This record gives sequence, C-alpha cells and structure tokens, in this order.
Amino acid sequence: MKMLARWMFLCCCVPALSGYPFRPLQDLDATPRVTVLSTGLLGSQRFSGAARSYSVLLLEEDAGMLYVGARGALYALDASDIAAGNALSINWEAPVDQKLQCLTKGKDNQTECFNHIRFLQRFNETHLYVCGTHAFKPLCAYIDAAQFRFSSAFEDGREKCPYDPAKGYTGLLIDGEMYTASQYEFRSSPDIRHNSPSPTLKTEEGPTRWLVEADFVGSALVRENVNTARGDDDKIYFFFTEKSQEQTPYFSQSRVARVARVCKGDRGGQRTLQKKWTTFLKARMLCSIPDYEFHFNVLRSVFLLEGEESQASFLYGVFGLEWKNVKASAICKYSIEDVQRVFEGSYMESQDSSQKWSEYTGKVPEPRPGSCITNHHRAMGINSSRDLPDDVLAFVRRHPAMFQPVHPVEQRPLLFKRTVDYTKMAVHRVAALDGTVYNVLLMGTDEGWLHKAVEVKGHLHIIEELQLFEEPQPIESMVISLATRSVYAGSPTGVVQVPLTTCQRYGSCFDCVFARDPSCAWDGAACVDFASHFDRSNLTQDIVNGKWAVRTEQWMMWCPLARALSCRGTMCSCSVSSAPIWPPRSGH
Ligand SMILES: *[C@@H]1O[C@H](CO)[C@@H](O)[C@H](O)[C@H]1NC(C)=O
Ligand SMILES: *[C@@H]1O[C@H](CO)[C@@H](O)[C@H](O)[C@H]1NC(C)=O
Ligand SMILES: *[C@@H]1O[C@H](CO)[C@@H](O)[C@H](O)[C@H]1NC(C)=O
Ligand SMILES: *[C@@H]1O[C@H](CO)[C@@H](O)[C@H](O)[C@H]1NC(C)=O
Repeated sequence: MKMLARWMFLCCCVPALSGYPFRPLQDLDATPRVTVLSTGLLGSQRFSGAARSYSVLLLEEDAGMLYVGARGALYALDASDIAAGNALSINWEAPVDQKLQCLTKGKDNQTECFNHIRFLQRFNETHLYVCGTHAFKPLCAYIDAAQFRFSSAFEDGREKCPYDPAKGYTGLLIDGEMYTASQYEFRSSPDIRHNSPSPTLKTEEGPTRWLVEADFVGSALVRENVNTARGDDDKIYFFFTEKSQEQTPYFSQSRVARVARVCKGDRGGQRTLQKKWTTFLKARMLCSIPDYEFHFNVLRSVFLLEGEESQASFLYGVFGLEWKNVKASAICKYSIEDVQRVFEGSYMESQDSSQKWSEYTGKVPEPRPGSCITNHHRAMGINSSRDLPDDVLAFVRRHPAMFQPVHPVEQRPLLFKRTVDYTKMAVHRVAALDGTVYNVLLMGTDEGWLHKAVEVKGHLHIIEELQLFEEPQPIESMVISLATRSVYAGSPTGVVQVPLTTCQRYGSCFDCVFARDPSCAWDGAACVDFASHFDRSNLTQDIVNGKWAVRTEQWMMWCPLARALSCRGTMCSCSVSSAPIWPPRSGH
C-alpha cells in the first residue's frame, strides 16, 4: 500500500512553480485511510449551551468532570457522557455598561466585547480558578467546584489574562502559583509572568528584548526536582512564534518557532534583574523538511507526552507556514533531553552596532547563567536566584537566546500534510496486541475534522479522519480521557465527545488489520477493542506493516499486497489472483 501510495504521488508530481510552492513529499504526506462524515460517527455525544466559542477544556479524570469555558459561560459536564443533561452552568457575561465602554474603545461588537473565558484550571482541592476577557477589562475569580459557583469577589485580571480574546495566551497553575504568557494589553509587549505570589516576575525589555511580538500557543511543566542528585528545579516551558531577530540563511523567514524555559523556583535578582526572571532562556524549534529550503516556522499547538522520567518525555508540535494563503501542516517531535541539551549549550550574542546575532564565544561567568539553583549553587552559598552574582545576571540579561536550535527527532517531521491546517493536537500511548506501545496522535483541523494517526518507525499512518462538525469550524480545544476512552473537542459552536477507538466500524478482517489501529484486532468474527479481552489467543493485528495477516494457534498467514483477503470465522484466504497459501502446506 505504501508503495502504491508512493507511485500515486509520483504520478501526481507537479513542478514547483505550478501553484504549490514545493513538490510533494511522498514519504511524509499521509492520506487518511478512512473518512467518516459527521452523520456516520459512532458513539458520539454533543453539548452546546446558549454560549459560543467553547475554547477552554479542563478534564478531571478522577471526578469524571469536563469543565468548559466558553464566551460568557462556564459549564461542568459529566465526562462519561457530555450530553447526559445534568450539566451545571455559570453565566458570566460582561455587564452592559462594560460592553458599551468596550464599544466606545472601537472594539468589535461581534467578537471582542464579550467575556471570553481564557483560563480555567484547578487551584486547590476545592476550588477552580478562572479568568475572562470581560469585554476588554479582564477579571478572575475562584469557583467552588462542588457547588459550581463563584466563591469569591472578582479580582483584577489585567496582569494575568489578555484583553483580546484572539491573542495568543497560555498559563499554568502550579502548586497554587500562576504562570502566564501573552501580550496582555493592546500596545504592551509580550511577556512571560510569574503572577503570584507577588511580586510578579516578568521578562526583560531592554537593552535586549527577550521576546519580540511573541504569539504564545502553549506551556508545560517538566518536573525535575524529584530524586535528582543535582538538586535541580522544575522547569516551565513556553512555546510561541516570534519575530526573527537572527539573520537566517532562509529566505522570507520573518518569524521563528521557539521554546523558552524558566525555573519554577526563580525569585528574580537582587539588584540586577529585580522582579525579572534570572532563568529565562529561549531556543529555536526547527521543523523543516531535509533538502527542501522549506521551513515550517509557525507553531500552532504543542503537546507534552510525559515519560517516567523527564528525559523520556517528548514534545509534539503542530507547525504551519507563514503564508496565510497556503494550507499545510507539519508535525515534529522533540525529545526533552535534546531541548535540555540545547539550553546547556552555547549562547547567542548580538553585536549592538549591526543587530546581527551570532554564537557567543567569549568567557561565560560562573555559575552558569540562566541555570536553575542546584546543589552546585548551594555549595557556593547561593540558595536562591537573589544570591546570584551581578556578572551572572548581567550576562543573562544580554544573552536570552541559545545558539543551537532544537532539532526534531530524526531531523525531519513525522508528518507533512498538504491542504490541511491542523489547529490542536493531543497524544496518548496505546499498547498493541504484542505489547508494543505506540503513540497515537489526534489532530483537530481548522474545518472541524479530527485526524487520528499512529506513529510507526518515525512516520505517521493516519488511521481515520472524522468529521466532528458538519459546518466547517476550527477545533479550538482538545483533550483525551483515558478513563472514559474518549476525546473531547471544543469549537465555536459546541463540544463533541467521540470514542478513542471504534473498532466495530471495521467490518472485515481486511479492514480491521489494515486500519492499523493499535487498539483494534480481528477475533475471527469481528473487529474488537481488545483492551477488555483476557483471552487474546486468536486475535490478529499488524501495526507495523498493516499487512493482511491471519493467525491461528499454529500458523500465520500473509496475503501479498493489494490482494484481497476473505475470512470466514478464523478461516481466511487470499483472492484467486494471488498464490494460494491457505491452508499452509509446510509442516502439515
Ligand atoms: C454591531 O455593530 C454593527 C455595525 O455597527 C451593527 O449593525 C450591529 O447591529 C451591531 N450588533 C450588535 C449585536 O450590537
Ligand atoms: C482553596 O482556595 C480557596 C480560595 O483561596 C479557599 O477559599 C479554600 O479554603 C481553599 N481550600 C483548601 C482545601 O485549601
Ligand atoms: C544558604 O543556606 C545555608 C544553609 O541553610 C546557610 O548556611 C547560608 O548562610 C545561606 N546563604 C545565604 C547567602 O543565604
Ligand atoms: C478463538 O479460538 C478458540 C480456539 O481455537 C475458539 O474456541 C474460539 O471460539 C475463538 N474465538 C472467537 C471469538 O472466534
């Protein structure tokens, strides 16, 4: 099949100049094997209230709750069935006078002068914390989760939440402390903040600007302070696209995808970098196709797939192109270990006169600028970032960027998809029949579709594409539940819940095996999700090859590619045109 697909693409090859800016890449472009329209979805549930723009989802597996932040409303849904009808809601729209004020500022009465929920996370055992744009005057508040109602007066949210509902924004509540990144106000510079406890830590704007027109898409906590011999600190990563200051060899590249890192325990400097991060460092994230002068430089979504240890964790990024009129997406995977290595490497430096950035090759002060406080520091009598020497802080201030970029695993994207703009992504691990663990990726598109893909040997096979919303609209939020074995996707018009796997969709042995869904196997009579099967002896699956294989107790059978396999019970045969290999002759 892969050969077949490759031939088809080769035949369809178009010269570089005829419309599309690059030649198709046969190896990386995958076509969904199955297309399911919204009318054919199996086991899906839908929720929509009076509000619009269901852009924030908070899943709590233990409680079985899916909290939803929309425009002017919050909902608490039953995660096992979001359509169950027992939804709790909080109406939280901006009052009329606030809306009028917003309108007089010249804001859009259709989009901006509403209360868009931008932040909704667990604060402590009993409370959630929420922030909304509140018609261009952001507010935040605590919610009593059990009662699902506000438990406090509203707090000023201007330092924590952007005014503009469309502005890139990301935030985390970690151990009761809030970290956010956005361009908060219309004219302010983008900033990464540690909002509480006070004083707020921020990024530096001069003499070297740490962030330039940054558009944030995500953030992630990587715990590193447990069981480390180094006495290291937890890291918080922020992901964004910003204006490129570097001179790049790549033409027409005005923006770069970036990862920035800060240490959780950073308290700012004493004199230099007072109320500023002392651990802010950023690096470029590359997602390019080798041998093509072609770079996916706009980051749209990231997902951290956590491993047992931080080194075994991986980042997945959805990238797009700078050109708005060309649809294309690439998915790149990075190991956290590689990211960590880049932040341990050499720094970038800008010569004031030329504004050119190049590798800094001079002397680096001790302890290493931008690193977290470790035992090494403590042995030097440095217990907190406030004890750091001035020369170290002065260096950090002028050298926020790393010289080396972070390269993706295998130096190339896992997937390159033309004509599709992925907007959101989530990843989970699935153990296949033979015990091998596969990463399964779910990608939402800008037109309301969900692509499900399995990562096999550094490539993605798209198992299926599902039309979640009949009316084209972007998937704005997505979350996977392993407890309910569902994926939830939010869009401008509602939330939809679909099962992670629907093996019963595959009615034949051929379809079942060829789907290459690690959760599905053919049991001789039907395609089953074998997670709950104890007896797995007569199940058939082939994720790596997706070949048509049939196994009984004694033998395994393969049909040559593109030959039909028919099964009756556990008895299968290849079509006449192929050499009959059933029943097997050898050994019997
Ligand atoms: C928004 O403004 C437009 C033009 O000013 C107006 O026609 C429309 O009725 C307004 N919509 C609302 C909901 O106020
Ligand atoms: C959680 O935080 C809220 C808001 O600060 C507070 O009222 C509540 O007592 C806290 N709950 C617990 C269990 O600490
Ligand atoms: C750091 O902590 C150690 C042990 O708690 C203490 O002896 C030392 O004085 C502290 N150093 C500073 C600079 O606060
Ligand atoms: C699995 O194989 C066993 C023994 O060959 C057979 O008894 C059983 O019916 C099979 N199960 C299915 C679901 O076909």
